[in-house]
Amino acid sequence: MVGVELLRGVVALDGPSGTGKSTVAKRLARDFGARYLDTGSMYRAATLAVLRAGVEPESSAGADIAVAAAVQAGTDPGNPTICLDGENVAAEIRGLPVTSAVSAVSAHPVVRHALVELQRRIIAEVLADETRAGIVVEGRDIGTVVTPDAPLKVYLTASDEIRASRRSGQDRRAGRGGDHASTLLAVQRRDALDSGRATSPLRPAEDAVMLDTSELDIGGVLAALRELVRDRGLSWSRGPGMVR
Ligand code: DC
Repeated sequence: MVGVELLRGVVALDGPSGTGKSTVAKRLARDFGARYLDTGSMYRAATLAVLRAGVEPESSAGADIAVAAAVQAGTDPGNPTICLDGENVAAEIRGLPVTSAVSAVSAHPVVRHALVELQRRIIAEVLADETRAGIVVEGRDIGTVVTPDAPLKVYLTASDEIRASRRSGQDRRAGRGGDHASTLLAVQRRDALDSGRATSPLRPAEDAVMLDTSELDIGGVLAALRELVRDRGLSWSRGPGMVR
Protein backbone atom coordinates (compact mmCIF):
# COMPACT_ATOMS: atom_id res chain seq x y z
CA MET A 1 0.00 0.00 0.00
CA VAL A 2 1.36 3.40 -0.99
CA GLY A 3 0.73 6.51 1.09
CA VAL A 4 0.04 10.04 -0.09
CA GLU A 5 2.77 11.43 -2.33
CA LEU A 6 4.17 14.68 -0.97
CA LEU A 7 6.66 17.31 -2.13
CA ARG A 8 9.93 17.92 -0.31
CA GLY A 9 11.26 21.50 -0.29
CA VAL A 10 10.68 24.28 -2.80
CA VAL A 11 9.82 24.13 -6.48
CA ALA A 12 10.65 27.50 -8.07
CA LEU A 13 8.59 28.21 -11.19
CA ASP A 14 9.60 31.30 -13.15
CA GLY A 15 8.80 32.73 -16.56
CA PRO A 16 6.82 35.43 -18.33
CA SER A 17 3.04 35.65 -18.33
CA GLY A 18 0.96 33.38 -20.52
CA THR A 19 3.15 30.31 -20.09
CA GLY A 20 0.53 28.52 -18.00
CA LYS A 21 2.63 29.05 -14.87
CA SER A 22 -0.18 29.82 -12.42
CA THR A 23 -2.41 26.97 -13.49
CA VAL A 24 0.32 24.35 -13.40
CA ALA A 25 1.86 25.71 -10.19
CA LYS A 26 -1.46 25.38 -8.35
CA ARG A 27 -2.14 21.91 -9.74
CA LEU A 28 1.37 20.68 -9.04
CA ALA A 29 1.04 21.89 -5.44
CA ARG A 30 -2.33 20.14 -5.07
CA ASP A 31 -1.01 16.88 -6.55
CA PHE A 32 1.85 16.78 -4.04
CA GLY A 33 -0.12 18.00 -0.99
CA ALA A 34 2.05 21.15 -1.02
CA ARG A 35 1.44 24.84 -0.40
CA TYR A 36 1.48 27.41 -3.21
CA LEU A 37 2.69 30.99 -3.35
CA ASP A 38 1.80 33.38 -6.18
CA THR A 39 4.36 36.18 -5.83
CA GLY A 40 2.93 38.08 -8.82
CA SER A 41 -0.30 38.59 -6.89
CA MET A 42 1.75 40.22 -4.09
CA TYR A 43 3.28 42.75 -6.54
CA ARG A 44 -0.19 43.32 -7.94
CA ALA A 45 -1.72 43.98 -4.49
CA ALA A 46 1.08 46.46 -3.66
CA THR A 47 0.38 48.15 -7.01
CA LEU A 48 -3.31 48.42 -6.17
CA ALA A 49 -2.37 50.27 -2.97
CA VAL A 50 -0.40 52.78 -5.08
CA LEU A 51 -3.27 53.30 -7.53
CA ARG A 52 -5.79 53.71 -4.72
CA ALA A 53 -3.58 56.39 -3.21
CA GLY A 54 -3.65 58.23 -6.55
CA VAL A 55 0.14 58.29 -6.75
CA GLU A 56 2.28 57.75 -9.87
CA PRO A 57 3.58 54.13 -9.94
CA GLU A 58 7.04 55.30 -11.13
CA SER A 59 7.48 57.89 -8.35
CA SER A 60 9.36 57.37 -5.10
CA ALA A 61 6.11 58.22 -3.27
CA GLY A 62 4.60 55.27 -5.15
CA ALA A 63 7.46 53.05 -4.01
CA ASP A 64 6.89 54.16 -0.37
CA ILE A 65 3.20 53.31 -0.54
CA ALA A 66 3.91 49.90 -2.07
CA VAL A 67 6.48 49.12 0.64
CA ALA A 68 4.04 50.12 3.40
CA ALA A 69 1.11 48.20 1.87
CA ALA A 70 -0.26 45.47 4.13
CA VAL A 71 -0.21 42.54 1.68
CA GLN A 72 -1.19 39.07 2.87
CA ALA A 73 -0.92 36.06 0.58
CA GLY A 74 -2.51 32.72 1.47
CA THR A 75 -0.76 29.48 0.46
CA ASP A 76 -3.66 27.06 -0.04
CA PRO A 77 -3.48 25.99 -3.71
CA GLY A 78 -7.23 25.30 -3.64
CA ASN A 79 -7.96 28.84 -2.44
CA PRO A 80 -4.96 31.15 -2.95
CA THR A 81 -6.12 34.35 -1.26
CA ILE A 82 -4.56 37.77 -1.63
CA CYS A 83 -5.52 40.60 0.70
CA LEU A 84 -4.69 44.27 0.98
CA ASP A 85 -5.37 45.73 4.43
CA GLY A 86 -7.47 42.65 5.17
CA GLU A 87 -9.65 43.09 2.06
CA ASN A 88 -9.75 40.30 -0.52
CA VAL A 89 -8.52 41.95 -3.73
CA ALA A 90 -8.14 38.82 -5.88
CA ALA A 91 -10.44 40.06 -8.66
CA GLU A 92 -9.40 43.71 -8.67
CA ILE A 93 -5.68 42.99 -9.07
CA ARG A 94 -6.32 41.21 -12.41
CA GLY A 95 -7.90 44.29 -14.01
CA LEU A 96 -6.25 46.54 -16.59
CA PRO A 97 -5.24 49.42 -14.25
CA VAL A 98 -3.14 47.13 -12.04
CA THR A 99 -1.83 45.05 -14.96
CA SER A 100 -0.61 48.23 -16.70
CA ALA A 101 1.11 49.65 -13.61
CA VAL A 102 2.55 46.53 -11.95
CA SER A 103 5.83 46.43 -13.89
CA ALA A 104 6.65 50.01 -12.85
CA VAL A 105 5.90 49.33 -9.19
CA SER A 106 7.79 46.02 -9.15
CA ALA A 107 10.88 47.66 -10.67
CA HIS A 108 11.51 49.75 -7.51
CA PRO A 109 14.38 48.06 -5.60
CA VAL A 110 12.82 48.94 -2.21
CA VAL A 111 9.56 47.30 -3.22
CA ARG A 112 11.37 44.15 -4.35
CA HIS A 113 13.37 44.08 -1.14
CA ALA A 114 10.24 44.30 1.03
CA LEU A 115 8.27 41.69 -0.91
CA VAL A 116 11.19 39.27 -1.25
CA GLU A 117 11.60 39.39 2.55
CA LEU A 118 7.91 38.67 3.01
CA GLN A 119 8.04 35.83 0.47
CA ARG A 120 11.05 34.26 2.21
CA ARG A 121 9.23 34.44 5.57
CA ILE A 122 6.17 32.70 4.14
CA ILE A 123 8.34 29.98 2.54
CA ALA A 124 10.37 29.49 5.74
CA GLU A 125 7.19 29.05 7.78
CA VAL A 126 6.00 26.30 5.44
CA LEU A 127 9.38 24.53 5.45
CA ALA A 128 9.75 24.79 9.22
CA ASP A 129 7.19 22.02 9.64
CA GLU A 130 9.10 18.93 8.49
CA THR A 131 6.07 16.69 8.82
CA ARG A 132 4.34 18.58 6.03
CA ALA A 133 4.91 18.94 2.31
CA GLY A 134 6.89 21.74 0.67
CA ILE A 135 5.81 24.65 -1.47
CA VAL A 136 5.52 25.57 -5.15
CA VAL A 137 6.45 29.23 -5.64
CA GLU A 138 5.78 31.05 -8.88
CA GLY A 139 7.09 34.37 -10.13
CA ARG A 140 9.90 35.99 -12.08
CA ASP A 141 12.89 35.85 -9.70
CA ILE A 142 12.16 32.85 -7.50
CA GLY A 143 15.08 30.73 -8.75
CA THR A 144 17.48 33.66 -9.05
CA VAL A 145 16.72 35.72 -5.93
CA VAL A 146 13.96 34.52 -3.61
CA THR A 147 15.09 30.90 -3.15
CA PRO A 148 18.35 30.39 -5.08
CA ASP A 149 18.83 27.12 -3.14
CA ALA A 150 15.57 25.56 -4.37
CA PRO A 151 16.21 21.92 -5.31
CA LEU A 152 14.11 22.29 -8.47
CA LYS A 153 13.91 25.42 -10.61
CA VAL A 154 11.90 25.45 -13.79
CA TYR A 155 11.70 28.30 -16.27
CA LEU A 156 8.60 28.16 -18.45
CA THR A 157 8.60 29.78 -21.88
CA ALA A 158 6.25 29.96 -24.88
CA SER A 159 6.17 32.07 -28.04
CA ASP A 160 4.78 35.62 -27.73
CA GLU A 161 1.84 34.74 -30.01
CA ILE A 162 0.83 31.72 -27.94
CA ARG A 163 1.18 33.58 -24.66
CA ALA A 164 -0.95 36.45 -25.95
CA SER A 165 -3.67 34.04 -27.16
CA ARG A 166 -3.73 32.34 -23.77
CA ARG A 167 -3.94 35.69 -21.98
CA SER A 168 -6.70 37.06 -24.21
CA GLY A 169 -8.65 33.81 -23.74
CA GLN A 170 -8.33 34.17 -19.95
CA ASP A 171 -9.41 37.81 -20.14
CA ARG A 172 -12.43 36.99 -22.29
CA ARG A 173 -13.51 34.20 -19.94
CA ALA A 174 -13.19 36.58 -16.98
CA GLY A 175 -15.26 39.23 -18.83
CA ARG A 176 -12.36 41.67 -19.19
CA GLY A 177 -12.41 42.02 -22.99
CA GLY A 178 -9.50 40.28 -24.68
CA ASP A 179 -8.60 41.54 -28.12
CA HIS A 180 -5.59 39.56 -29.36
CA ALA A 181 -3.56 42.37 -30.99
CA SER A 182 -3.66 44.67 -27.97
CA THR A 183 -2.99 41.76 -25.60
CA LEU A 184 0.08 40.83 -27.67
CA LEU A 185 1.41 44.37 -27.39
CA ALA A 186 0.69 44.46 -23.65
CA VAL A 187 2.41 41.09 -23.10
CA GLN A 188 5.50 42.22 -25.05
CA ARG A 189 5.60 45.57 -23.23
CA ARG A 190 5.41 43.90 -19.81
CA ASP A 191 8.09 41.32 -20.74
CA ALA A 192 10.41 44.09 -21.92
CA LEU A 193 9.93 46.02 -18.67
CA ASP A 194 10.28 42.92 -16.47
CA SER A 195 13.38 41.67 -18.33
CA GLY A 196 14.99 45.09 -18.66
CA ARG A 197 14.77 46.32 -15.08
CA ALA A 198 18.00 46.76 -13.13
CA THR A 199 16.98 44.86 -9.99
CA SER A 200 16.37 41.11 -10.34
CA PRO A 201 15.20 41.14 -13.96
CA LEU A 202 13.17 38.29 -15.39
CA ARG A 203 15.71 35.67 -16.47
CA PRO A 204 16.26 31.96 -15.95
CA ALA A 205 18.56 30.81 -13.15
CA GLU A 206 21.69 29.13 -14.50
CA ASP A 207 20.58 25.80 -13.10
CA ALA A 208 16.93 26.10 -14.16
CA VAL A 209 15.31 23.47 -16.35
CA MET A 210 13.91 25.24 -19.45
CA LEU A 211 10.44 24.05 -20.42
CA ASP A 212 8.86 25.39 -23.61
CA THR A 213 5.08 25.12 -23.24
CA SER A 214 4.18 26.37 -26.75
CA GLU A 215 3.21 22.91 -27.98
CA LEU A 216 2.01 21.51 -24.66
CA ASP A 217 -1.37 21.68 -22.99
CA ILE A 218 -1.68 22.05 -19.22
CA GLY A 219 -1.71 18.27 -18.75
CA GLY A 220 1.53 17.95 -20.72
CA VAL A 221 3.31 20.65 -18.70
CA LEU A 222 2.07 19.12 -15.48
CA ALA A 223 3.28 15.65 -16.47
CA ALA A 224 6.75 17.06 -17.24
CA LEU A 225 6.86 18.84 -13.87
CA ARG A 226 5.73 15.75 -11.94
CA GLU A 227 8.48 13.75 -13.61
CA LEU A 228 11.08 16.38 -12.68
CA VAL A 229 9.91 16.35 -9.04
CA ARG A 230 10.24 12.56 -8.88
CA ASP A 231 13.56 12.45 -10.80
CA ARG A 232 15.07 14.93 -8.35
CA GLY A 233 14.00 12.76 -5.44
CA LEU A 234 11.65 15.45 -4.18
CA SER A 235 8.62 13.26 -3.61
CA TRP A 236 8.12 11.29 -0.45
CA SER A 237 5.33 9.35 1.14
CA ARG A 238 3.89 9.82 4.59
CA GLY A 239 1.87 6.64 4.31
CA PRO A 240 2.94 3.03 4.91
CA GLY A 241 4.80 2.61 1.58
CA MET A 242 7.61 4.80 0.26
CA VAL A 243 6.97 6.37 -3.14
CA ARG A 244 10.65 6.31 -4.05
O1 DC B 1 2.63 36.73 -12.68
P1 DC B 1 1.88 38.06 -12.79
O2 DC B 1 1.53 38.41 -14.20
O3 DC B 1 0.69 38.11 -11.90
O4 DC B 1 2.93 39.17 -12.27
C1 DC B 1 2.60 40.51 -12.28
C2 DC B 1 3.85 41.36 -12.37
O5 DC B 1 4.58 41.31 -11.15
C3 DC B 1 4.82 41.00 -13.47
O6 DC B 1 4.61 41.81 -14.61
C4 DC B 1 6.18 41.31 -12.88
C5 DC B 1 5.95 41.33 -11.40
N1 DC B 1 6.58 40.23 -10.69
C6 DC B 1 7.89 40.38 -10.33
O7 DC B 1 8.50 41.39 -10.66
N2 DC B 1 8.49 39.41 -9.60
C7 DC B 1 7.83 38.30 -9.25
N3 DC B 1 8.45 37.36 -8.51
C8 DC B 1 6.50 38.12 -9.64
C9 DC B 1 5.89 39.10 -10.40
